[in-house]
Amino acid sequence: MGKITIAIDGYSSTGKSTIAKRLASTLDYIYVDTGAMYRAVTLFALEEGIINDKGKVDEATLIDKLSDIHLKFVPNTETGRSEMFLNDKNVEREIRAMRVSGFVSKVAAIKEVREKLVKIQQEMGKNKGIVMDGRDIGTVVFPDAELKLFMTASPEKRAARRYKELLEKGEEVTYAEVLKNVEERDRIDSTRSISPLTRAKDAIEFDNSDMGLEEQFERIHDYSQRVIAKVG
Ligand code: DC
Repeated sequence: MGKITIAIDGYSSTGKSTIAKRLASTLDYIYVDTGAMYRAVTLFALEEGIINDKGKVDEATLIDKLSDIHLKFVPNTETGRSEMFLNDKNVEREIRAMRVSGFVSKVAAIKEVREKLVKIQQEMGKNKGIVMDGRDIGTVVFPDAELKLFMTASPEKRAARRYKELLEKGEEVTYAEVLKNVEERDRIDSTRSISPLTRAKDAIEFDNSDMGLEEQFERIHDYSQRVIAKVG
């Protein structure tokens, strides 16, 4: 059976990664969470003092230091999931914190950052058999992907999901803060000049505001089976 490339794009907290991970594991494909890569670069910028107290990113310094950033996905043998390593340090937990979420859209809007990460992503998918999720996978990273999905849900539903996740991780946040962050990221991600978040013309739109995980997974798995059968 031929392998295909599956691109999953969409707004933050639409459950892209949950679906993508499960799909990859069912199909025995590689899974890549590109948001984790933008988050790791943001963490690097925070740790190096490249983002000042007022939240301003010193773009020139970050671009200068891009070659010092080495990213790796390392499988955790206990959970079976890949974790993000930044310069050989496991940063999986840190990159999900609100501190990083607050700045990641700014960092992801920098052309040189995108160029570096897109190149790595294209290299990871060159042999197909990959499920990649992000914002520009079907439009920029793999415009020829055989299956493209675009996930949406209302900002309130997405904020509620994210809020629950953060509480479970013990972060002290309010629902209002999370909703504000979700809306702010939507705005920056959709209006940036380079690779803004848009649906590829040939992507299937999927609004999961009122759809359970099982139903979503079944439908998406079904699409993938049909496309794989066609490829032969
Ligand atoms: O999927 P996520 O919420 O972990 O992504 C974090 C941020 O990274 C998000 O605000 C947009 C950005 N991003 C991007 O610009 N392009 C991608 N392919 C993936 C993420």
